Amino acid sequence: MSELRTDHPTVLVVDFGAQYAQLIARRVREASIYSEVIPHTTSVAEIVARQPAAVILSGGPSSVYEPGAPSIDPALFEAGIPVFGICYGFQAMAQALGGDVAHTGTREYGRTVLVRTATDDVVFSDLPTEQTVWMSHGDSVAVAPQGFTVTASTDGTAVAAFENRERKLAGVQFHPEVRHSEHGQTVLRRFLHDLAGIAADWTPDSIVEQQVAAIRAQVGSDRVICGLSGGVDSAVAAALVHKAVGDQLTCVFVDHGLLRAGEREQVERDFVAATGVQLVVVDAASRFLEALAGVSDPETKRKEIGRLFIRVFEDAAAALVADAGAHGEQVKFLVQGTLYPDVVESGHGSGTATIKSHHNVGGLPEDLQFTLVEPLRLLFKDEVRAVGRQLGLPEAIVARHPFPGPGLAIRIVGAVDADRLRILRDADAIVREEVSRAGLDSQVWQMPVVLLADVRSVGVQGDGRTYGHPIVLRPITSEDAMTADWARLPYELLAHISNRITNEVSEVNRVVLDITSKPPGTVEWE
Ligand code: XMP
Repeated sequence: MSELRTDHPTVLVVDFGAQYAQLIARRVREASIYSEVIPHTTSVAEIVARQPAAVILSGGPSSVYEPGAPSIDPALFEAGIPVFGICYGFQAMAQALGGDVAHTGTREYGRTVLVRTATDDVVFSDLPTEQTVWMSHGDSVAVAPQGFTVTASTDGTAVAAFENRERKLAGVQFHPEVRHSEHGQTVLRRFLHDLAGIAADWTPDSIVEQQVAAIRAQVGSDRVICGLSGGVDSAVAAALVHKAVGDQLTCVFVDHGLLRAGEREQVERDFVAATGVQLVVVDAASRFLEALAGVSDPETKRKEIGRLFIRVFEDAAAALVADAGAHGEQVKFLVQGTLYPDVVESGHGSGTATIKSHHNVGGLPEDLQFTLVEPLRLLFKDEVRAVGRQLGLPEAIVARHPFPGPGLAIRIVGAVDADRLRILRDADAIVREEVSRAGLDSQVWQMPVVLLADVRSVGVQGDGRTYGHPIVLRPITSEDAMTADWARLPYELLAHISNRITNEVSEVNRVVLDITSKPPGTVEWE
């Protein structure tokens, strides 16, 4: 198992239990500095032992007065480590340093005007006197700790930011990590680069260099296999491993017949051309269709696909192991495209690879006799893309929207068969073509196209009555698919997509738009 460590200067984000800690770590990475999330139960001794370049205290519960509310050990501020407090972290910091936090009874929530109250501070230097920030708090810092300058205030909060330049300590009541704070990223950069003085060295080429060295050290001269799904993560993981150990790597691509138009070719032709990787393609479409015949319950579909996928992959892996063995070689390693958010969600990098059973069709059973190579274990999705570009992968793969492992099967509401797959595949291809042509790929996080295979409605086409199926468009915007909003695509584009689908896919006579956010709707329909 690859260790969750890097030689780069590291900013530790102490997670006080809000949903913002991961986002803060991402923003630090966007400032080209490596960052990790750690639980608030980590002791100061452990933090100091990591020799972090800085510590950021995240937002958290609404009040430092709540019973059991996490606090921060004042020893942290004596360790000479630069510290930045955000929201709850700002209040916990104020309290630990001898300032005063008050139950004001007034809540500040949402967009708020922040006014600078100092001129020679570091964190807001060169920023306008007034800026819009995102607030979400009940309590407020009433008195800043001794030795600290109050650097900003709002209508409702006299002490909305403070800083102590000599001790490299600062904090803000608002959330600089959310996009609604107009200069939030600059505020974070000022702290990281100017107050804490951390060098920006977390760049795609340095990530590649480091991961390649780590993979070589782990794998040695043994053989490695990697399952490709057609998605960004497995492609980038495979490309990294290939760069590190060349032909010691063999990739396996299981075509389950539930892919979208052109996806198999993208892997077979474009990915191989870009990397020179050795690829085994297993054509298992008919096995999957047989297994799915008559199955319309979403969970049964998912389980059936997951089960069969594992069996097919295991067979291919066993054949490779036997073949290598015949040449006196050992296949010891399996590449897994685990990303940093999975690591955090499975317990803050405790070292166990948790495979989301129903969500990751590439997830393999534990009794498979391989050691995992996880070259993306430190990375957020945007970083995976940047690394993919650095490695010269085709833009069509690197910029690809996420696509679920169970594929089109969970976008057909009703049982899956070859005809239904063809209808959905044709409609989906039109949608992707038109969204790309409109230049909107990067503005849409994902755009599932769903076939309501068990629903029919009456329509009219030419002079005749039709009785066809609806296609649902589900364009979303999102940061991480945990929450999502429906994307406001231009009407012209939607009209054009609708015309093309109903004209070109004869079984479809209606196109509808899903305008549900998540929650309450999930992204996929099944
Ligand atoms: P939901 O539908 O749960 O989807 O809101 C959230 C995100 O996860 C993707 N998704 C999957 N990805 N295997 C995957 O690899 C799956 O079984 C799976 N189910 C949903 C979905 O496309 C969205 O990005």
